[in-house]
Amino acid sequence: MAAKAATPAARTRTTPGPGAPLRLAVLGAGQLGETLIRGLLEAGLTEPGAVVVTTLHATRSRDLARRLGVRAAASNAEAVSGASVVLLTVKPQQVVPVLREVGPLLTASQLVISAASSVSTAVIEKHLSALAPGARAGAKHLAHAEQLFGAVGQTVVLDERHMDAVTGLSASGPAFLYIVIESLADGGVKVGLPRDVALRLAAQTVLGAGAMVRETGEHPALLKDAVTTPSGTTIDGILELEEGGLRVALIKAVVRATRRATERAHELFGDQLK
Ligand SMILES: NC(=O)c1ccc[n+]([C@@H]2O[C@H](COP(=O)([O-])OP(=O)(O)OC[C@H]3O[C@@H](n4cnc5c(N)ncnc54)[C@H](OP(=O)(O)O)[C@@H]3O)[C@@H](O)[C@H]2O)c1
Repeated sequence: MAAKAATPAARTRTTPGPGAPLRLAVLGAGQLGETLIRGLLEAGLTEPGAVVVTTLHATRSRDLARRLGVRAAASNAEAVSGASVVLLTVKPQQVVPVLREVGPLLTASQLVISAASSVSTAVIEKHLSALAPGARAGAKHLAHAEQLFGAVGQTVVLDERHMDAVTGLSASGPAFLYIVIESLADGGVKVGLPRDVALRLAAQTVLGAGAMVRETGEHPALLKDAVTTPSGTTIDGILELEEGGLRVALIKAVVRATRRATERAHELFGDQLK
């Protein structure tokens, strides 16, 4: 994952103090949940014995418990008991049912962080309002969320109105880039490279280009110009890309994915915010 937004969906009044053991409940420990747990364990921010997980299928929780040494809870309600941080990593449509289960059990000292896309803080607040009416995530809570997500990637803190755009660019973007990598590899195969070599070169090229943009801080247009020699090979390739509309296609892909994230939020939660 190239970038992560620390979603400002934290709902509590207080944050666990510095040095306090991070007792983490991960509700819906699927792909993202497991990645986060691994990152937090590797960063030494928590210990396996202090992490409790839930999933829909008990076999998945047991498997995680066996592989990571964490505890598998029998229910979401059981998982949140004693946790200082509750991380919601279920799919968006599961957020409200899970909040209904745990909302009445949470106390004001527990920090709730939602990683679910298309679920606004308003929806989350509605289901936790009995716990902390009118409370909003403050700087301390965001700092805590940043610390947790920083263990597995880069974080940016954004106003909530940008979250669908983050989904459109950052969450859907990897799929767009897999297509770019696949297509570059196909190009390599077309000009005679073995498939496995072409794929390795394509993936490494995308990785290297991304690292250059991040590490140099240069505008990508300048980096492109620097490797495009007059009358050279690259400018011929660029001509094909411009003719094929790559730029417009990628811009439209992000716009469409963002729009879909907004639509999905309305489909899932529109009636709850009236
Ligand atoms: N993956 C990413 O890179 C990424 C990035 C940013 C945000 N997100 C957000 O993170 C969330 C999870 O994405 P994901 O890719 O990790 O999905 P996922 O792999 O499908 O994980 C969802 C997990 O939730 C569990 N679950 C379903 N219903 C539950 C319930 N009622 N109680 C407890 N657990 C339940 C599922 O259990 P089973 O395994 O037993 O079915 C599964 O393990 C989504 O809301 C997504 O928008 C994901």
